[in-house]
Amino acid sequence: MGLAHRVAYRALRPLLFSLDAERAHDLTLSWLAGDSRLVRGLVALPRVDDPVEIAGVVFPNRVGLAAGLDKEGRCLPALAAMGFGFIEIGSVAPQGEAWSDPPRIHRLTKARALINRIGLHRGGLEPLCAELTRHRWPLDPRSATPVRLGVNLACNVATRASHAIQDYALGLRATITWADYFTINVSNPNASNLHVPDTRPSLDHWLTAIDQVRIELADLTGKQPPLFLKISPDLSSLAVQTLCEALRARSDRVHPEGLYWGVIAANTSARRDAVRDHPHADGRGGLSGAPLREPVDQLVEQMRKQLGRHIAIIGTGGILSGDDARARIATGADLVQLYTGLIYRGPDLVREAAQALYSIR
Ligand SMILES: Cc1cc2nc3c(=O)[nH]c(=O)nc-3n(C[C@H](O)[C@H](O)[C@H](O)COP(=O)(O)O)c2cc1C
Repeated sequence: MGLAHRVAYRALRPLLFSLDAERAHDLTLSWLAGDSRLVRGLVALPRVDDPVEIAGVVFPNRVGLAAGLDKEGRCLPALAAMGFGFIEIGSVAPQGEAWSDPPRIHRLTKARALINRIGLHRGGLEPLCAELTRHRWPLDPRSATPVRLGVNLACNVATRASHAIQDYALGLRATITWADYFTINVSNPNASNLHVPDTRPSLDHWLTAIDQVRIELADLTGKQPPLFLKISPDLSSLAVQTLCEALRARSDRVHPEGLYWGVIAANTSARRDAVRDHPHADGRGGLSGAPLREPVDQLVEQMRKQLGRHIAIIGTGGILSGDDARARIATGADLVQLYTGLIYRGPDLVREAAQALYSIR
């Protein structure tokens, strides 16, 4: 099964790589969204069953799709068929956001990397919720270990930082019916207002304001999905330490009431040191793929030490093989996510990573 997929993707990849990166991306997404039997046959792989409970949620395995590939939630059945344990959709802000002019994605093929400046969901929360309703999510409600859904929330570009919580609150309220976990994107290199406060008092204030929305929602719906902060790999050590201390203090205090905070490390990077000699390296946007592997391993290691054992970390960035996934878990991550690896390696990577993690149980 794995071999057939590898051969199919090897045959398809030169065709996709001969196209402009965004064109190839759009074409692949429309194939996946069409969810035809042929496409499903090409991408489907049996899911590795390796259930694990993290942040109060049982994930069928530890390999997820990172945010940004299926911003709109159009391709959920095909993506679930690839064997992911969880799929993150978004980033989505309350209102749709127009994208800047192309080119918006560059491949740095020799570095197995991408640079992108694709914006947030172009339609906003309303069409995203319509899509989840159309798919009748969850896809497999009778399964004891259904594939899990993360909703990645952002605020609109025009929203001032002082009003960001209101945008996140709208996202939390609109999607709580479907979300198994939430991500708050505070690290998009393409939007300057998405960042986490960097002093301890303003950070505490910010986290408390979000917790108030979560308490109100828990009262209304009975649901308290865990919430992950998605951070930049470019944060200074001091900023990482301040964040870890604030989360740790909060989780000691708030966790008994069931409000769970975790971290996704990390988003794309604005740095270019690792790819300086590659074509397109000077392009604006966020760098993803292999050059993130080492810095994100180091970041996860630092955060694990500072967060202690009880705060979950999803390790995202530069996973292009089963060995990369295993190394990321060894640095202290609980779950991993992929995006760029899927472009360079194809859907086979999902099973390879999940199997690599199964073998270290
Ligand atoms: C084209 C593209 C679009 C992305 N869009 C988003 C997004 O909307 N929200 C987000 O939180 N991360 C987004 N990301 C970042 C990924 O979720 C991930 O954090 C990053 O690419 C590192 O993982 P990777 O090296 O496996 O790609 C995007 C990445 C790419 C390549």
